[in-house]
Amino acid sequence: MPQRSVVEAPNPFREGLRIKESLEPCVMVIFGATGDLTHRKLLPALYNLALEHPLPAGFSVVAFARRPYTDETFRQQALESINQYSRQKPVNPQVWDSFASGIHYLQSNFHDPEGYTKLNQLLNKLDQERGTSGNRIFYLSTPPSQYPEIIQNLGAAGLNRNRKGWTRIIVEKPFGHDLATARELNRQIGRVFKEEQIYRIDHYLGKETVQNILVFRLANGIFEPVWNRRYVDHVQITVAENLGLEGRAGYYEESGAIRDMIQNHMLQLLTLVAMEPPIAFDGNSVRDEKVKVLHALQPLVGRDVQNNTIRAQYGPGWVGGKQVPGYLQEQGVSPTSTTETYVALKTFIDNWRWAGVPFYLRTGKHLPKRVSEIAIQFKQPPLMLFKDHDTQGQVEPNVLTLRIQPDEGISLKFGAKVPGTDMQIRSVNMDFFYGSSFVREQPEAYERLLLDSMHGDSTLFTRRDEVEAAWSFVQNILDEWQNAPRDTVHTYESGSWGPQAADEFIWRDGRRWRRP
Ligand code: BG6
Repeated sequence: MPQRSVVEAPNPFREGLRIKESLEPCVMVIFGATGDLTHRKLLPALYNLALEHPLPAGFSVVAFARRPYTDETFRQQALESINQYSRQKPVNPQVWDSFASGIHYLQSNFHDPEGYTKLNQLLNKLDQERGTSGNRIFYLSTPPSQYPEIIQNLGAAGLNRNRKGWTRIIVEKPFGHDLATARELNRQIGRVFKEEQIYRIDHYLGKETVQNILVFRLANGIFEPVWNRRYVDHVQITVAENLGLEGRAGYYEESGAIRDMIQNHMLQLLTLVAMEPPIAFDGNSVRDEKVKVLHALQPLVGRDVQNNTIRAQYGPGWVGGKQVPGYLQEQGVSPTSTTETYVALKTFIDNWRWAGVPFYLRTGKHLPKRVSEIAIQFKQPPLMLFKDHDTQGQVEPNVLTLRIQPDEGISLKFGAKVPGTDMQIRSVNMDFFYGSSFVREQPEAYERLLLDSMHGDSTLFTRRDEVEAAWSFVQNILDEWQNAPRDTVHTYESGSWGPQAADEFIWRDGRRWRRP
């Protein structure tokens, strides 16, 4: 049977998480199932799906990993993880029993062909016993260095397709370490799986507020006409974190903020803000438009990199009332490391809609708080009639803020007359909060994404050309940074909003960073 086409698949993006059409039973095989991601995110997400949207009765999980566990010991650990990390607590014993009966553990090394033979046998057995009809999702949740051997072994064992049902593969981030390795990984997967079988995860796309960017823009008539260079002065995208390394020094030293956050999450936010309306709401039409934005990004090369990017490392300081070490003092970090924990950059999108409008992106660890937002600042009115009357001597511009997390919502800042006999103008906000407008709790990003992968909807996953286009933009910066002197890596105090150089960088344009 041919693989089901992505375009034909129903799109739950349009319908919330409510499952209107029935899902076909399937097996999710998780490679690296004893790892952190599986326990913190994947198992709790699957359990919540089982709880709220009854997954098909035969839905099964095969946990494929190296440690010597049995079905029972793995189920016990899964229960502990769900108890700890699930959105819905306490665990419902009936739902858990039924969910747990579908969890199986397969111990194997990732390079051992015999493991894949056993996997094949187990999957066939589950097809018989649980009615999963040959429908399979392979989830790569191992360190990326193991992806190639797993993919190759899946192919060698003939597990990349089967005659009875559909086969899909989900690939976790990081997708490549740079442009060359991302291309190579795409080639390796592409030799074994067809593009429509491949689901590259960027968990930001599973966030409700991120999906709402397009709904806000395209389901309302009043914003799109002003969503362009005629009315927008600039855009600021901020993803600030108060956390530090969280025990991930090994990974982070090799990654840094540009690979960890800009190449994926932040460029994804930028594409959703900047893209043209797609011709249809399906995986390929949406991604076609996102890719065009990435291709239109003005490449930063040579001196442009120095002038348009700031990188920095956190020094010691205080975050959330706790004293924290500097990056170079963190365990597992080289004392001479130049890995950046903060990046600010300015980029332009060279197309008719956005030419000349700067997009400022900034992200960092050990900043004062966790907050992600997109702020669209509009131009001032053509003639400022009230400039002598407001309190500060200047009326503030309109800003539309899409608050991604926390306190999810949207606010519009505008000037209003202060009640009184004189003419004073002050900025006020018109606010929408998810929390007060909707009673329904927001699903976790992974719930949405796992469900979409079961439905065969790849709208919220990144496509091959998209990942490569994002890497192309970032690669130029990486190349330049590699050759730049060490003193181009600035330092900022932990708990501050980043290095002074980042403030100066935006002041040069006569603008300032928002304090979210
Ligand atoms: C991950 C990064 O992809 O995203 C982490 O590797 C980062 O370093 C995390 O902390 C942020 O995700 P969220 O959902 O907490 O904003």
